[in-house]
Amino acid sequence: MREPTMVVDMDSTATSAAVSPPPLPPQALLERLKDYGQEDAFALWDELSPEERDFLVKDIENLDLPRIDRIVRCSFRSQALPVAAIEPVPEQNVSSVEERTMEERERWWNMGLKAISKGKLAVLLLSGGQGTRLGSSDPKGCFNIGLPSGKSLFQLQAERILCVQRLAAQATSEGTGSGGSESIHWYIMTSPFTDDTTRKFFESHKYFGLEADQVTFFQQGTIPCVSKDGRFVMETPYKVAKSPDGNGGVYSALKYSKLLEDMAMRGIKYVDCYGVDNALVRVADPTFLGYFIDKGAAAAAKVVRKAYPQEKVGVFVRRGKGGPLTVVEYSELDSSLASAINQSTGRLRFCWSNLLVDDNFLLAAIVSYYWIFTRVSYHLAEKKIPSIHGYTMGYKLEQFIFDAFPYAPSTALFEVLREEEFAPVKNANGSNYDTPDSARLLVLRLHTRWVVAAGGFLTHSVPLYATGVEVSPLCSYTGENLEAICRGRTFHAPCEIAF
Ligand code: UTP
Repeated sequence: MREPTMVVDMDSTATSAAVSPPPLPPQALLERLKDYGQEDAFALWDELSPEERDFLVKDIENLDLPRIDRIVRCSFRSQALPVAAIEPVPEQNVSSVEERTMEERERWWNMGLKAISKGKLAVLLLSGGQGTRLGSSDPKGCFNIGLPSGKSLFQLQAERILCVQRLAAQATSEGTGSGGSESIHWYIMTSPFTDDTTRKFFESHKYFGLEADQVTFFQQGTIPCVSKDGRFVMETPYKVAKSPDGNGGVYSALKYSKLLEDMAMRGIKYVDCYGVDNALVRVADPTFLGYFIDKGAAAAAKVVRKAYPQEKVGVFVRRGKGGPLTVVEYSELDSSLASAINQSTGRLRFCWSNLLVDDNFLLAAIVSYYWIFTRVSYHLAEKKIPSIHGYTMGYKLEQFIFDAFPYAPSTALFEVLREEEFAPVKNANGSNYDTPDSARLLVLRLHTRWVVAAGGFLTHSVPLYATGVEVSPLCSYTGENLEAICRGRTFHAPCEIAF
């Protein structure tokens, strides 16, 4: 047998002897990555420090590669398929603002308050998103949209919950002479990107006046981001870029956190689920809850009419003739369909955009949980992803909360007015729409109308279209009970009206 030959450059022995070649990547792991076409994750292995190599190995070992591969392949495949035929939602399937009578509204309001006072309603906040378009490093709920009070979105929501609790307690004591009323439990879904900061924000603000044990945080899962050819995007040379698995991740997160059991134990029957980024969101809306109970639906959603054909909102549609209700995202709706007009009403055919859901999850969640794991259908959301080459366009794999809608035994849509309930905070100031500035003006305009209707007056040193007054949610939920505070008084805008 020949001895292996070794050529030694005597001049460089001192340095080369000290540098041993980098260890090879763990072969079994590399082979597994190759099976799924993801071996590029180890592309920069030779340049990593020992700690970084350990980090990368753990990062990859923590991924359920067969499941992720299935998800990626299914998502790309379904993206390439033509969208199944869709039908507009018939007008008669929507409870529209026009057809609602005063008596109905009052009845629903009272029914809702009664259920709330008995502790049957929980609210569930979807707050796991990364808010990339807004560009804030903190979770969106911590964002201050510049209202006179300087309140964050979380604080506005917490105070609306407090207000509804008070209204429910008052309604019970008027009805029964006793004051016993339950509080509203608040479930907050975070993700590894928002969890720590969100919890600390609530602690440092003393839960905005709520009881600490009235709030439960839970985390949704994450999934790797992929490039247009389906390969993992590397955030650093030793870390795969990941993102939360979409707001539809709420179903499996509820399941894994055993929160359905928690809800059952608390006697919760209805779950009002909403997104963090609507400054006018009516959290725990008694009228909507009353409608929902009255209708006997398993899931319902509030909808607003789409403002214009290209508005970037998902719309409710029927899948096929008479098929179930579902949401088609704006990115998935053909532009000719987006602008198609209903000849008899003169309105857009696909006009019911969603405000996220308020629905009875207890059943829908379980149904969709099984569906998620048998069908594995995710949406490819094209977004900016942090990568070793700076921000790059790629796909986040997301499930949408509405994906479960077709599986609910019965569904209902409830129209609300956008000027009363829809002030989205999606993009940074300077963009053309859905910014903190536009949301602030929508809040000020609505609250100014409430104050004037309650007999108040305004003075202002900037044009009224650019300012207004803010009403603390602790004073009023929908403009009610403001006369005692406002009648005959003059307020100098901008200002907050509080107790
Ligand atoms: P968006 O679809 O607007 O996403 O979320 P986003 O992450 O907030 O913002 P961008 O797209 O990165 O700019 C709508 C709602 O769904 C929640 C968000 O927190 C928001 O309330 N969401 C979104 C989750 O809870 N989890 C997710 O994985 C995604």
